[in-house]
Amino acid sequence: MASSNQDDVIQDPLHQPLPEALSTEEAQLNRPSWYAEMRQEHPVRYDEQRERWDVFRYEDVNRILRDHETFATTHSSNDGGKSMISEDPPEHGRLRNFSSSWFSPRTLREKRERFEEIADELIDDIEPGHVDIVPEFTHPYPVTIIAESLGLPIDDYEQFIEWSDAALRVPARTADEEEVTPEEQEQATQEMSRYFSELIDERSDGTDNDLITIAATNDELSHEEKITFCTGILVAGNVTTINLITNALWCFAEFDLFDDIRRGAVDREQAIEEVLRYRSPAQSLRRIATQPVEIGGKEIGEGELVVAWNGSANYDPAVFDAPEEFRPERKPNRHISFGGGIHTCLGAPLARLEADIALERLLDRFEVIEPDLSDLSPQEIPFGLKSLPCYLKN
Ligand code: HEM
Repeated sequence: MASSNQDDVIQDPLHQPLPEALSTEEAQLNRPSWYAEMRQEHPVRYDEQRERWDVFRYEDVNRILRDHETFATTHSSNDGGKSMISEDPPEHGRLRNFSSSWFSPRTLREKRERFEEIADELIDDIEPGHVDIVPEFTHPYPVTIIAESLGLPIDDYEQFIEWSDAALRVPARTADEEEVTPEEQEQATQEMSRYFSELIDERSDGTDNDLITIAATNDELSHEEKITFCTGILVAGNVTTINLITNALWCFAEFDLFDDIRRGAVDREQAIEEVLRYRSPAQSLRRIATQPVEIGGKEIGEGELVVAWNGSANYDPAVFDAPEEFRPERKPNRHISFGGGIHTCLGAPLARLEADIALERLLDRFEVIEPDLSDLSPQEIPFGLKSLPCYLKN
């Protein structure tokens, strides 16, 4: 179970202690039934053990995410520079806007071909047969894209993957791998910060269009804020996307959709939206009440922590017809897996593009993709699977 220590080390609103009800693997896999019970019985409740409020209905979750004046993001307690994810206005815009055009769908369209190459190169190295698709593909693919987008020297990729896994305490992916300790996590975070610091210095008068250069040449950010931007992109962008692609393979196998998607009978992009709703990598987001406020008939006090369960909102029958059904053609699909309001995921267009390319290439290159769903090993945060053994045939 996620410890409260995780709250302190990784300062992003996705990481937080889980309630007792989700402490077993079985419960993790069965989240929607717990969400349904909570929406019905306790749509807004205080959890004594975790010392925070939980909010489960779509309308309430949406309100919390959109009202940053009443429900502020929680500030980081570390000494690093300020980051967009842990600041509200007036600082938030300064920390976010300088990079938004890089993440626009138009800019990203130009990168499609290169991202396809990255996917194809990884697939070239996969020996068909029985493989765990997570270490073979769904993990290295987004990490390589982030590394390249930041403009890291190719020789540093292996080191970067090690740091990124340790900094995020990615659970061991095989029985031979050891879990990362909090000390190792702290050390990786520091080493990574030093590494980015040097690259930022080197690129401070650069003209390239990589994310490190864009941060390095921005006069409105302090040196610490530039480092925090780079590490933040890594924290926010990697594990979430890894899980989106893994969860898509999981859903498409469970609902027997590979052939329909391959021949275009089911729209791939729309099916990915339904994966985002049905098995969102981001299930809950943390906020803090800036003033006393009433929500769902409960009085929340100033300074109290509030967890907005967007994973539950995505299953609210008030908004979605038959939410427990996976409907790849669902339209409109008003899921809030990328959050809402000013902190709406900056990387959403990138995550969507990465997932689309990954699934297109996998389905194109393998005639048979058969994930083994008999013994699933769920990952808590972000929500997904630690491994997904598959049978692959060209
Ligand atoms: C499926 C993949 C992803 C999911 C589910 C996801 C989810 C989210 C969510 C829910 C938030 C809002 C956090 C909050 O309101 O407290 C968020 C924010 C953010 N995400 Fe993502 N994300 C994904 C991929 C990415 C990628 C690929 C990047 C960048 C490379 C990225 C960068 C960010 C950043 C920078 C923020 C902070 C925005 C702000 O505070 O203004 N995310 N993400």
